[in-house]
Amino acid sequence: MAKQKVVVTGGAGYIGSHTVVALHEAGFSPVIFDNFSNSKPEVLDGIARIIGEKPQIFEVDCRSKAELAQAIEACASDGQIAGVIHFAAFKAVGESTERPLDYFDNNIGSTVSLLEAMTAAGISNLVFSSSCTVYGQPDAIPVDEQAPILPAESPYGYTKQACERLITDAFNSSMPLSACLLRYFNPIGAHPSAAIGELPLGHPNNLIPYLTQATAGKRGPLTVFGNDYPTEDGTCIRDYIHVMDLARAHVASIHWLLSNPASCEAFNLGTGEGKSVSQVIAAFEKANGIAVPYSFGPRRAGDVTAIFANAGKAERALGWKCELSLEEALRDAWKWQQKLTEG
Ligand code: UFG
Repeated sequence: MAKQKVVVTGGAGYIGSHTVVALHEAGFSPVIFDNFSNSKPEVLDGIARIIGEKPQIFEVDCRSKAELAQAIEACASDGQIAGVIHFAAFKAVGESTERPLDYFDNNIGSTVSLLEAMTAAGISNLVFSSSCTVYGQPDAIPVDEQAPILPAESPYGYTKQACERLITDAFNSSMPLSACLLRYFNPIGAHPSAAIGELPLGHPNNLIPYLTQATAGKRGPLTVFGNDYPTEDGTCIRDYIHVMDLARAHVASIHWLLSNPASCEAFNLGTGEGKSVSQVIAAFEKANGIAVPYSFGPRRAGDVTAIFANAGKAERALGWKCELSLEEALRDAWKWQQKLTEG
């Protein structure tokens, strides 16, 4: 029997590329829709090294209904599409405050176009890439899916809330739609083969890519943004999840949608454990036997003090939970950085 296809928008990106690998390993045929606006075509070679073949790819700007419709039609002509996983979006919090229109246009515009194209093609299953940023600084941690959605701190955060809302509104209308809204905590690490990983173009804003580049001597020392927070060691607490665990959650979501038609649910995806920035640095040094050059600096605007997941709902409904440790994620992140350094 022919494998079922899963369309992965933004499939050449960081989480997208790892999900493409996980889908292939689970017996699906992943099809990438990507315009390489924040990724490189070489990612496809990395995926091919792992799965033994280049995935099918359509160069599509997901804001364009016409391009989406054409690609979906071509894709459906020789196989059945089980669903769509929608990653394609801009994702830098700071940049979104400088280019809000681009973020609204790209992130919200692409989701509207995708929903219309899916409806026209009769595809109802959608997995949406959301973020724990929708919770802001929650009153209680670990945070579960019942926690209120707080006013967004950035245009980026607002686009995630708006897309969740528009998917939920579409679900509540007469549109035939089933959706998983996946609220990621902090994805880190890389495929253990180091054939794919995170490829931040330019100055990395997130902790682990900056930390690994600083440790490799490609950047100045890491600045830890604030050590005067009301936490045990004064640094912020987050829930760092191995990108391979996160990738598997997308496969579990597709399976869940296939057996739960006409459903729309949000799921937190995290380990359930909070780690401070200082703990992450210490764990990285221990896991890799190398010192991280760093110093403490002022707080970064918009950072919440502490957030980590209650991921119980995902475990109960999707049968998914994290299997990989922080140390494994940090070892894989360093292996990937070393590969990049070697060229
Ligand atoms: N940090 C540093 N130095 C750096 C970079 C980060 O100390 O150079 C600290 C941050 O202050 C924070 C922690 O490391 O305490 C994690 O920061 P990241 O930028 O890696 O991740 P965030 O938690 O800020 O951001 C993540 C996602 C966003 C999402 C946000 C919601 O990357 O997409 O969570 O809180 F919007």
